[in-house]
Amino acid sequence: MIRLRRLRGSEAIRNMVRENRVHKEDLVYPMFVAEGTGIKNPVDSMPGIYQYSLDTFEEELHRVADAGISAVLLFGIPAHKDEVGSSAYDDQGIMQKAVRRIKELYPDMIVIADICLCEYTSHGHCGIIHDGKILNDETLPYLGKMAVSLAKAGADMVAPSDMMDGHTAYIRKALDDNGLTDVLIMGYSAKFASGYYAPFRDAAHSAPQFGDRRTYQMDPANGREALRECEADIAEGADIIMVKPALAYLDVVKDVRNHTDYPIAVYNVSGEYSMVKAAAANGWIDEKRIVMENMTAMKRAGAGIIITYHAIDVAHWLESES
Ligand code: PBG
Ligand code: ZN
Repeated sequence: MIRLRRLRGSEAIRNMVRENRVHKEDLVYPMFVAEGTGIKNPVDSMPGIYQYSLDTFEEELHRVADAGISAVLLFGIPAHKDEVGSSAYDDQGIMQKAVRRIKELYPDMIVIADICLCEYTSHGHCGIIHDGKILNDETLPYLGKMAVSLAKAGADMVAPSDMMDGHTAYIRKALDDNGLTDVLIMGYSAKFASGYYAPFRDAAHSAPQFGDRRTYQMDPANGREALRECEADIAEGADIIMVKPALAYLDVVKDVRNHTDYPIAVYNVSGEYSMVKAAAANGWIDEKRIVMENMTAMKRAGAGIIITYHAIDVAHWLESES
């Protein structure tokens, strides 16, 4: 008889043959920083997640650093929105100020700046609009300006999430032309048009004011096309590629893993987080167990980097077990 149960007989044996592990170093914690002072607004649809102003932001940053997390992904909530997202590439913008502050406090923290216009545009779309259309090539210079401005502020990595074609090449060239050759690009390469982003749009005030994002984000039905998106990002100079959302797209993660040797990130998005939090709050599931199972599943599918709102909890759970 083939006795596979021999491999499960004790905690020590199970630990010895375990194929995948989650490490603190894998985690990236997303943070929302708003213009203003004294702000700590809870995001109703994301229990435990807040919008912070620069002054209150520090306490959360200390929590992140104390947990042993080495990377944060920043989103800005500006005071002013307009048609072309001017606050996004203002050197005195909220993101730029937050990047500088983190680098002052924690020079070794990896600061990743999300690059997209939707939090900064009055219409809430990720690109420039003309006659109700989201224009591709016209959007690129704005993304380039935003990336350069945030890299100059000290961001280690920029992460374009807009899904415009050719954006990675445009941003790489803009960075290089400004002497920012060491700044990494993490592409939101395979980003699907997903209902799982709904809580995020409350958190970042970035819901589109008309229509939806289906003309630029991917159709959830398409797995092979995700590989083309990843190939395009790699060809254009991305250092790290991403699949987003994570849990409903682990087949895509696995396909991408088998297709390339580039580092792969997954974004365990807001809706995935909120579903777990809601079920846990009702006592229907064991939060720690479910979250760790989800984290392990992302690693098993082939992700190396996990962007997650659970990051601080996960880091503490890992600590208490070691
Ligand atoms: C902005 C952006 C979104 C997310 C990350 N960057 C929302 C969107 O595309 O509408 C989603 C993150 C999440 O749901 O946690 N382009
Ligand atoms: Zn966007």
